[in-house]
Amino acid sequence: MSDRSCLAVILAAGEGTRMKSALPKVLHEVGRLPMIGHVLAAARQAGANGEAVVIGHGADQVRAAVELPAGASGRSPEVFVQTERLGTGHATLAARSAIERGYDDVLVMFGDAPLLQADALGAMRHALAGGADVVVMGFRTERPTGYGRLIGRGGTLTAIREEKDCSDEERLITFCNGGTMAIAGKHALDLLDRIGNDNAKGEYYLTDVVAIAHGLSLSVKAVEVSFENALGVNNRAELAEAEAIWQERKRRESMLSGVTLVAPETVFFSHDTEIGADTLVEPNVVFGPGVKIAVGATIHGFCHIEDAQIAAGAKIGPFARLRGGSMVMEKAKVGTFCETKKARIEPGAKVPHLSYIGDAIVGSGSNIGAGTITCNYDGVNKHLTEIGAGVFIGTNSSLVAPLKVGAGAYVAAGSVVTDDVPDEALAFGRARQVTREGRGKQLRERMARAKNKDEG
Ligand code: UD1
Ligand code: MG
Repeated sequence: MSDRSCLAVILAAGEGTRMKSALPKVLHEVGRLPMIGHVLAAARQAGANGEAVVIGHGADQVRAAVELPAGASGRSPEVFVQTERLGTGHATLAARSAIERGYDDVLVMFGDAPLLQADALGAMRHALAGGADVVVMGFRTERPTGYGRLIGRGGTLTAIREEKDCSDEERLITFCNGGTMAIAGKHALDLLDRIGNDNAKGEYYLTDVVAIAHGLSLSVKAVEVSFENALGVNNRAELAEAEAIWQERKRRESMLSGVTLVAPETVFFSHDTEIGADTLVEPNVVFGPGVKIAVGATIHGFCHIEDAQIAAGAKIGPFARLRGGSMVMEKAKVGTFCETKKARIEPGAKVPHLSYIGDAIVGSGSNIGAGTITCNYDGVNKHLTEIGAGVFIGTNSSLVAPLKVGAGAYVAAGSVVTDDVPDEALAFGRARQVTREGRGKQLRERMARAKNKDEG
């Protein structure tokens, strides 16, 4: 397919009012990626070498989401504005100047179909390469309400009829239009320019391309795909449905690549989650964006992990929260009720229980006692705590940053450490203990007497 050029026109100018949201519909997320991001990715995976996104008037948020920031590497899609919402055919023509450049294949896609897969697009492009002029993505459903019906005669597709324009008989058809259409580039503009608006909604329907092409004796084909490819999200219930299917796919994909999910239905991925083989993920784990896990790690139950790198053999949780910029290196451990942020836990280091480690480096092989907190924030600025290799931090210590604890140092339990600790030193940062012989007994007796007096 690589020898054929391909333009993907992605329509995203619809109002999406049923989302009842201040956010444009196509920016609602599935797998923590805006729906339009999934559509763009599928187009590129199917070999598109140009993308045109059609947005509505004032949809600057959509523009900002799809355009790469200045200086970033990669290709930004071209953005076109459909100034009036006059239908999908009209919206496609907003990208006229891109279509005019002349591609072999033109794919017209909808920005609210996040489950569309590259292989469905590939099958459509394959049909174009095989000589078809127009290819429609068809799917079968027992609940066709709302979809355009594929009308055929003797194996040829003759038209797509929108629900509102169907006869009673046509409405019974269960083979439906999944939305995406592939058009041979050499005919695309001519076909699109012939679309009229003589229908129940008075809109310029993209779907009329089928009847127009048939009338011109061009070859029109349908490629049948599964329902998910066609699933268009119009409200939040459908958004949740799309999310559920997407998570299912991702769980399966990761299990088939060698990851053990003990209870897959309780593990939630992001679009970019990467997990190496032989990693074990226990129940109830959420992966936010930006997580990379190497081979043979263990993620115990009830962890929330985002923007984190976890190296081979590391152990996380249960009940750990890894936030932005966390790096847990080979065989290191971040255990129960620990939170990390911008923290590098070097190989073999252990943060086993009840700690907050933020803006910090924990050197290799160091052990951080239960309840240790890095005091990284002074109310205005964040400061770094650097702990060298082989350090022992006693339990319930507060490490007040900026702070350096040298390699091999030892911090006594319960310390508030405000000054740097040199290599190999022992630091006490706590009040000296005072012990009074016999005073415990006296105190108890005095309290008991006072209580009796009150009650008598
Ligand atoms: C469309 C198809 C229908 C198909 C269904 C699949 C048409 C006429 N109908 O109907 O056959 O079964 O999708 O989900 O194409 N849009 C614009 N500008 C417009 C109108 C729409 O950009 O003026 C965009 C929307 O943002 C959306 C897409 O086009 O991404 C589809 O529009 P929508 O109104 O959802 O069409 P459906 O009625 O669902
Ligand atoms: Mg729709």
